[in-house]
Amino acid sequence: MDKIRIVGGNELNGTISISGAKNAALPLMIASLLTDETLTLENVPRLRDVAQLTQILSNHGVDYSVDGKRAGEDPLKGQTLHLTAGRIVDTTAPYELVSKMRASFWVIGPLLARMHQARVSLPGGCAIGTRPVDFFIDALEAMGADIEIDKGYILASCSGGLKGAHIVFPKVSVGATHTALMAATLAQGTTILENAAREPEVSDLAHCLVGMGAKISGIGTDKLVIEGVDRLHGYRHSVIPDRIETGTYAMAVAMTGGSVLLEGAREELMESALDAIRKTGTQITQTNEGLQVTRTNGGIQPADISTEPFPGFPTDLQAQFMALMARSKGTSRITENIFENRFMHVQELARLGARIQLDGQVATVEGTDQLHGAQVMATDLRASVSLVIAGLAAEGETTVSRVYHLDRGFERLEDKLSRCGAQIERISA
Ligand code: EPZ
Repeated sequence: MDKIRIVGGNELNGTISISGAKNAALPLMIASLLTDETLTLENVPRLRDVAQLTQILSNHGVDYSVDGKRAGEDPLKGQTLHLTAGRIVDTTAPYELVSKMRASFWVIGPLLARMHQARVSLPGGCAIGTRPVDFFIDALEAMGADIEIDKGYILASCSGGLKGAHIVFPKVSVGATHTALMAATLAQGTTILENAAREPEVSDLAHCLVGMGAKISGIGTDKLVIEGVDRLHGYRHSVIPDRIETGTYAMAVAMTGGSVLLEGAREELMESALDAIRKTGTQITQTNEGLQVTRTNGGIQPADISTEPFPGFPTDLQAQFMALMARSKGTSRITENIFENRFMHVQELARLGARIQLDGQVATVEGTDQLHGAQVMATDLRASVSLVIAGLAAEGETTVSRVYHLDRGFERLEDKLSRCGAQIERISA
């Protein structure tokens, strides 16, 4: 299995081009199931999760193709995917495929809406908490679906098609919002989703669905109103920049010092995360090209964060912020409110010399001037990258094993960082 080797201590200077958001690309790809015409997605990142989802979609009968190289095109920019669900041949999403990636469970919404039936394995994904699917089931039942659970599969059907419903989510859920939103576009009548997730990736999906002919109002708010239509059509849509990748590299610069342009990044997608990074003594300015992140002075100031649904501080940046706080000049408190088991990076960061105490959902981090290189192990996607950025700021050599987690969500990580002066390489086993 591949490893990543880092020799820490170098400043980061230069430009990093920000990829399309994984967590927007995945639901957008799934939306292709809603129409028999072609959905073209630009700026799709080249990631293992994207490749995995193409397999799942092609199992349902979706044809896909990727544009080849074009004259004058920047090879570092994202790929263009064409997805055509002309005829859905299979409404089962099998365990072997779904267990590798939780987001693939979301196919249940479009399959039910278009085919009136779906058999979808209960999901897998990162081990960051129990992650049930009760909100999905309740929402689809409210829309008239009959749902049974049998041998690890959800069997869902709605013989006359889905019907509009008034759904109030008990807690904000990104996946349940994506799924109910897609399902509602083809339901009969009006669906109201209250306490809906407001994450930029949900809005990106909603904008694409509108381009495909859906009638949605309230985009960007916690109340989405969807008037069902008979059919959706093809469309061309460009995936928004990845705010989690942006925040990760911004924190890497905050840790190592230097100045990096995060090309294509947009402040309005991530204000609370940028505010927290600014509090540590890092300058971040929006330019026409992206976000310029600079830290020139010596000290990293401590700051407290609590993860919240958007527009709050994202849980997907919690591990990276903890790495940053491990090098701060004081004590900080990090509270995880979204997932109950998202602290697996704590013991790995401790191998690098981080001083962190856990008490339930709260981590108290005593900053230190000196992290030191060590052998560490990636446990989930965002935890792994926190180890990478800590390694960049540690003295000596760090090796991160199990890097397949990183390949799920970070495109050309070593390449992007080494172009800015980091000493980082992949060692293929
Ligand atoms: C999405 O996961 C993201 N995944 C996650 O990113 C992200 O951490 C999470 O949203 C929160 O922002 C993708 O977009 C592909 P949720 P999702 O449903 O949709 C509870 C990454 O690293 N809940 O918003 O699965 C749940 O247990 C990944 O890229 C229920 O109780 O998350 C959690 O506590 C990791 N019942 C909370 O809601 C349900 O039926 C929020 O989860 C559904 C969710």
